[in-house]
Amino acid sequence: MLLGVNIDHVATIRQARGGVDPEPVMAATLAILGGADGITVHLREDRRHIQDRDVRLLREFVSVEFNLEMAATPEMIGIARRIKPDLVTLVPEKRQELTTEGGLDVRSQKRAIQGAIEKIHAARIPVSLFINPEGESVDLAREIGADMVEIHTGMYADARGRTKDRELSRVAEAVRRALDAGLLVNAGHGLNYQNVSRIAALEGLRGLYIGHSIVSRAVFVGLERAVREMKEILTDTGGRI
Ligand code: PXP
Repeated sequence: MLLGVNIDHVATIRQARGGVDPEPVMAATLAILGGADGITVHLREDRRHIQDRDVRLLREFVSVEFNLEMAATPEMIGIARRIKPDLVTLVPEKRQELTTEGGLDVRSQKRAIQGAIEKIHAARIPVSLFINPEGESVDLAREIGADMVEIHTGMYADARGRTKDRELSRVAEAVRRALDAGLLVNAGHGLNYQNVSRIAALEGLRGLYIGHSIVSRAVFVGLERAVREMKEILTDTGGRI
């Protein structure tokens, strides 16, 4: 199973002082040494962490999958078409949020998202949609031409007790439905060393996209080791439970 490592929060630390350290390209090097199959960054409209130069440099440097997360705005579509990442993941974006709060509202923004997919496809870049674990979102993603979906695992990650099992079932059902629809299926958000194995065990998943927990552990054990430890969990549990 593919592990895409989101390095946004390396840039968050840099932006705290507005200098040059720590360098996201260095983070990408260490993540790849640790076994990352992909590097993800979210270029937010407010540029709170990742900057345009990071995206340009990482595109040149990253030889594994380079996934650009972005809102479906004209500015971001233009950047993606110029930079040509290996994958664009469309996400909703709100200025006040601490992190991406939910999946795309594909129903109410169907035409806008479809238009974005067409423009990104015209530059020969595959598109993934970050969606909530709901059948309707899966069906709409397929209908409007997405190549992949990333199922939002945040509600599963935050849930406690019996609700957690219910949220896991919602993710599992959405994964199955997306696979049946012929989509490639990923999952991500809020996954950490404790909660990831039940998601990694779901049959048919292409990959997981994980950021905050890996960068947090990296503060104590280093990024290469933090990635390796996560990769080992995925390798051990992937598709086996
Ligand atoms: N996938 C998507 C679409 C995201 O927006 C994020 C957060 O940037 C992640 C995965 C990674 O989430 P986390 O940092 O909680 O691992």
